[in-house]
Amino acid sequence: MFLLRLAALVLASAAPAAFAQVDYPIYGTWSSGSKNVVTGAGFANPANLSFTYPPTTGVSYSFSSTGYYEIARYRFNGNGSQPNCITGVLNWVHGTYTLEANGSIVMVPFGDGYQQIQDPCAAVSNFIEMYNDTELYQSYQVFQDPIDGYKLHLFQFDGSPVAPQFQVSTTPNMLPTQALRNVTPPGAGAADIALVSTGAGAPRWEALGAGTVLASMLTVGMVLLAV
Ligand SMILES: *[C@@H]1O[C@H](CO)[C@@H](O)[C@H](O)[C@H]1NC(C)=O
Ligand SMILES: *[C@@H]1O[C@H](CO)[C@@H](O)[C@H](O)[C@H]1NC(C)=O
Ligand SMILES: *[C@@H]1O[C@H](CO)[C@@H](O)[C@H](O)[C@H]1NC(C)=O
Ligand SMILES: *[C@@H]1O[C@H](CO)[C@@H](O)[C@H](O)[C@H]1NC(C)=O
Repeated sequence: MFLLRLAALVLASAAPAAFAQVDYPIYGTWSSGSKNVVTGAGFANPANLSFTYPPTTGVSYSFSSTGYYEIARYRFNGNGSQPNCITGVLNWVHGTYTLEANGSIVMVPFGDGYQQIQDPCAAVSNFIEMYNDTELYQSYQVFQDPIDGYKLHLFQFDGSPVAPQFQVSTTPNMLPTQALRNVTPPGAGAADIALVSTGAGAPRWEALGAGTVLASMLTVGMVLLAV
């Protein structure tokens, strides 16, 4: 018994050498993979609902120590039966977040979030729609990698991981932390902005596990190719 426990201890202390979990604040700007997707002025321009296309896909989260967050996401979805029908989704949102007592993070958007969907095979091949989802993340962990430095692991409401993100800045790289366009809450006039929407069946940004196969998750049954 003692030997078993000792063995477990040795294993436990040996294993995380490369990725030591550390008690490190979530503040700053984080970016996955090749770090081409980064929050702030280089990605989204919410005033005119445009995006600057990053050279590769990825996700980026920023958190301020004063309770603001911003997310930038770019991904491709493949279509299993129509390999040439690759859909691109760019998504941007910001707002306020709270670190809850149970370890979760709740992110409440300002209302000016939006996303662009490019689907070469759909009736409307390129459209922009509002994105104003409150997001719940079950937990987060920061690891320290001897080569890449601090690395943020976020776990979505269902426990699935967001692609690991490297810290690209200790101060958050964010657009101004307020609504950057006139937005009308639903039911209060609405449709002030010329948004084109394909309605119910339209693919939307959805919580995704890194590398998860999605076929059944998206309404049009697309398969994740890259995050
Ligand atoms: C949006 O505004 C930015 C900054 O003024 C400008 O560079 C960009 O061309 C505009 N994009 C569109 C699609 O109007
Ligand atoms: C943690 O707290 C958040 C916010 O209060 C809540 O939405 C979530 O369900 C809680 N999670 C668990 C596992 O209790
Ligand atoms: C966006 O979501 C927040 C939180 O649910 C809500 O308070 C706000 O009215 C929404 N804004 C719009 C424009 O839908
Ligand atoms: C693939 O794309 C075609 C054309 O848009 C669509 O009709 C079909 O439902 C898609 N199939 C899947 C599995 O997503």
